[in-house]
Amino acid sequence: MHIKSIFFAAVLGLGMTGSSPVFAQQGDAGDLGEKSYIAYCSDCHGLAGAGGGSLQPLLNVEIANLTELSANNGGVFPMLDVIHTIDGRSGLPGHEGPMPTFGYMFDPGIYGPPHAAEAVIRGQMLSIALYLESIQK
Ligand code: HEC
Repeated sequence: MHIKSIFFAAVLGLGMTGSSPVFAQQGDAGDLGEKSYIAYCSDCHGLAGAGGGSLQPLLNVEIANLTELSANNGGVFPMLDVIHTIDGRSGLPGHEGPMPTFGYMFDPGIYGPPHAAEAVIRGQMLSIALYLESIQK
């Protein structure tokens, strides 16, 4: 099943039953985060998150090493900053950096309950952030 479909199913499942097998174990979120990381981030940040992805030669900025986010922040994983960086929707024209604006990219374009799309977007970003937290050195 496509990753976005899994999230949609998870959101619906939560709404209807109060629980969902997708969220039953932390390991599931980690696995989803890893798959999403490889699909959306590894071309730049490298398969292991340490930089050196295949797109680096095309960029005129250094691509960040994502395994040192905690080390660069006094040993604490900067969860909120990471989510905001992935999201990228600042609302200010011209204030988006070298990364794709994933907050828009992850929009599943669904017409469901109010805020359903935003729940999917945030779930996608959170699973990637949790995966990044798990690969800190
Ligand atoms: C097109 C290449 C590209 C892609 C794709 C990309 N990034 Fe980045 N990312 C960068 C660059 C370049 C920087 C450094 C930005 C800067 O210095 O302004 C960066 C910075 C970051 C940072 C901040 C690092 C720090 O030290 O504060 C995080 C977190 C991050 N990226 C996560 C991700 C995640 C997660 C994904 C996938 C969902 C992703 N990036 C996809 C190029 C990319």
